[in-house]
Amino acid sequence: MSMPVVLVAEELSPAGIAVLEADFEVRHVDGSDKAQLLPAVADVDALIVRSATKVTAEVFQHASKLRVVARAGVGLDNVDVEAATKAGVMVVNAPTSNIVTAAEHAIALLLATARNVPQGHGALKKGEWKRSKYTGVELQGKTVGVLGLGRIGVLVAQRLAAFDMNVIAYDPYVQAARAAQLGVKLVTLDELLADSDFITVHLPKTPETLGLIGDRELRLVKPEVRIVNAARGGIVDEEALDLAIKDGRVAGAGLDVFTSEPMTESPLFHHDNVVVTPHLGASTHEAQEKAGTQVARSVRLALSGEFVPDA
Ligand code: MLT
Repeated sequence: MSMPVVLVAEELSPAGIAVLEADFEVRHVDGSDKAQLLPAVADVDALIVRSATKVTAEVFQHASKLRVVARAGVGLDNVDVEAATKAGVMVVNAPTSNIVTAAEHAIALLLATARNVPQGHGALKKGEWKRSKYTGVELQGKTVGVLGLGRIGVLVAQRLAAFDMNVIAYDPYVQAARAAQLGVKLVTLDELLADSDFITVHLPKTPETLGLIGDRELRLVKPEVRIVNAARGGIVDEEALDLAIKDGRVAGAGLDVFTSEPMTESPLFHHDNVVVTPHLGASTHEAQEKAGTQVARSVRLALSGEFVPDA
């Protein structure tokens, strides 16, 4: 009998591939290229993706044998879960694999925006010794507003408390008592905007959160606020942010995610006080190893008809 086929549509850790190769035929494709993806899914039992592959209803129409789609990361926003359910395909992810890594990246961006690390680095590499131009701000005693107190938001809040920051958060799904246990004060969105020196976004992308920080919100912020988004592109409206930076209402931004990815050209890239990275939030060796092995194990369980626990 032939082995079930697993199609890996993006880079997966060697440890994850090894788990799969023990039981399955493993094939690879560039999932970001629909013209390659659609014929490749025709006879596979499982599909593994990260962020670049859009698993749409069209993909399910081409994949009559498909039984499971696995996303090697947190969230499922590039998988059409409704279409998967209609097609009878199970969808799994690795919800805790990269939470520490994502939290650390958000903090890296926050520190970079506070202390102009990339700007100073870039100038010095060009032979320019500019000290006063890149004077920054301290974190100690400042207020950070954490938007979304889920798994990643909590890790960020705990770590920023160690910088002696005053941590406030907006999350309509979290009880004030739970926040208080973490030493975090829950506030309304407008209070968070008005009181924060730094705002960091840790929300999933949903119809509710898309554009949550738009023009109205960016007119309520404290002057000199710095905004970090290492969650999902579009939660902070890019046009509104561009305008707020031009107007001097926002002193800096650290962005890892964009409305459309890959993003290589954006008006935001022209501001010296905007620090950007190409969706690196989950990109550490540790997180990729965990994501790879977690989804590989889930795929193995799903294909053998066993219960797949939440990782
Ligand atoms: C995630 O959702 O965990 C990440 O965005 C995955 C990735 O980096 O591709």
